Amino acid sequence: MSRAVCPGSFDPVTHGHLDVIERTGRLFEEVVVAVGNNISKNALFTPQERVDMLTEACAEWTNVRVALFDGLLVEFCGAHSIDVIVKGLRFASDFDYELQMAQMNRELTGVDTVFMPTAPRWSYVSSTLIREIAGLGGDVSAFLPPPTAERTLRRVTDRQGRKSP
Ligand code: PNS
Repeated sequence: MSRAVCPGSFDPVTHGHLDVIERTGRLFEEVVVAVGNNISKNALFTPQERVDMLTEACAEWTNVRVALFDGLLVEFCGAHSIDVIVKGLRFASDFDYELQMAQMNRELTGVDTVFMPTAPRWSYVSSTLIREIAGLGGDVSAFLPPPTAERTLRRVTDRQGRKSP
């Protein structure tokens, strides 16, 4: 069985992520969406909350499952018999960093990476911008699945409530 992984932080999952996951599901028999923790980012949701939101958002695609991972992505790939890492590319500057990781991952265990251009309509969307806009009171509902948008609004509202005296 051909099996690919779509790894990421998904904090939170956006329509851009879901576009890449759906298209990966048309190319491979099985897709594992692997939720990792990017320690350099200030997380809005716990890894388990992100898994829950992704599981709901991907429910209609029967060949897609969602899993948590920590540690090295290549080890996760080995443990789950995953042949290919699929990464979405939004713009040229994504490529520089992703190429380096792809080459390193291939050197580590031989696992290959395939790049998928994101749909132009979502190419400017990133979870980092979503967190910033939502945190400053902006409307991010156009970029997220509705249940994720609701949870994002609730989370930033809760956090702001806790910060105010
Ligand atoms: O959505 P992100 O934040 O770009 O996802 C990054 C992620 C989690 C996919 C990346 O940080 C990752 O692969 N982390 C696992 C640790 C690892 O394998 N590091 C070595 C990379 S060569």
